[in-house]
This record gives sequence, C-alpha cells and structure tokens, in this order.
Amino acid sequence: MTTTVTFLGHGTFQIDIDERTVLIDPFFTGNPAASTTADAVAADAIIVSHGHGDHIGDTIAIAKRTGALVIANHEIADWLGNQGIENRHAQHIGGAHEFDFGTVKFTIAHHGSMLPDGANGGNPCGILLKTVDGSIYHAADTGLFYDMKLIGEEGIDLAILPIGDNFTMGPDDALRAVKLIEPKRVIPDHYDTWPLIAQDDEAWAKRVAAETSTEPVILQPGESCAL
Ligand code: NI
Ligand code: MN
Repeated sequence: MTTTVTFLGHGTFQIDIDERTVLIDPFFTGNPAASTTADAVAADAIIVSHGHGDHIGDTIAIAKRTGALVIANHEIADWLGNQGIENRHAQHIGGAHEFDFGTVKFTIAHHGSMLPDGANGGNPCGILLKTVDGSIYHAADTGLFYDMKLIGEEGIDLAILPIGDNFTMGPDDALRAVKLIEPKRVIPDHYDTWPLIAQDDEAWAKRVAAETSTEPVILQPGESCAL
C-alpha cells in the first residue's frame, strides 16, 4: 500500500491511496497557485473543509464530471444536494466514518464557513484522514487552538497547517501548532496564493527544524511526497 500526498496549490491536496484518489478542498478556477485545472483532475472522493469559495472551489463541477463522493459537514452536504450533487456523505465535527480509502474524522476549526451564494455552511472543519499507511491532519483554515494537542494525541504522521496569516494562523502560531500536535512531518499551506498571504516558507521550515522534532516538508504546487 502506498499513500501519496500531492499539493495542488493554496489549500488543495490530492491524496492517492492505491487506486483511489481523494481531493481535499479542490480550488482551481480563480486560484493563481493551482498546478492543474478542474477539468483535468481525477477524483473518487472529495472532502470539503468549509464553505468558503477558495475551499468548496470547483467541487460541484468535479463531482458532476467524475461522480466522486463528496464528504462535507451536514450543512454543506445539504447545500450540495440542492445543487444537484446526489453522491454525497454528511458528517460533522467529532464524528468519524470509514470509507473504502480510509477513515475521515472532522475536527474543530476556528474560522467561518459561509457558502459562495451566502447560504449557511455550518461550522468549519479540519480533516483527520487515516489510511492504511498513516494519518494526515489537514487543519484547513483555522486559528490556533489548544485542542490541537488532543488531535496530536491520535498520532499524526503528516500535518498540513496554514501559515499565510490574515485569514488563518500565521507562521508564529503555526509553529506553536506544530509543538501542540507533534506530527512526524508538517507541510505548510494557504500562503503565497495572493500577496496578502505571502510568507517565507523556507524561514518557517528552519524554525520548525530548530525548535521541534517534526520534519518540515515544503511542496511547490504539483509536487508530491509519500505518506
Ligand atoms: Ni476560509
Ligand atoms: Mn481559505
């Protein structure tokens, strides 16, 4: 079994678990950092963290083209149903569910979740994905919260943390998050997409390496690493 993690730009990731492809927050159209396009990606499942346009992104178009199962919180899943997406699975914070590619549990995230048309997207979520090869915590858009320590207690092989600041944690709080979670490796995301969230990823990685026992991994859009 091999799980491969590919960064597609901003907060978008593709997780390949053997022959299954899972997209997290597929945002391509209007994403200056996107390494591919909505009509080119494959998907068996799509996990959506919250309702903001840079996360729900191209979910509807990709789901309609591929028939992928969309996994989201109850409010977003309901909204997707109104957009004609039938293959969907609703769950919510604290709840885990087993799929054919692994187990998905939604965690808390401190953020907003309004959908692009102004509909209520419920509470925003982080994503804990466990595959046969290990566990990935995609924090999605969030501020720092102390309960990240509880998430870390599950044993995180790879954490994906925002460092862009302004809308989410910045580099300082993301470093504190690494210390709470203690993942084996960490990938920074949600930065450099626009000038407002520009960050020095190499400088952040040096601090992670110097101050924690976590290995920082910087992926450029389109680059992959094994879980
Ligand atoms: Ni957001
Ligand atoms: Mn965002």
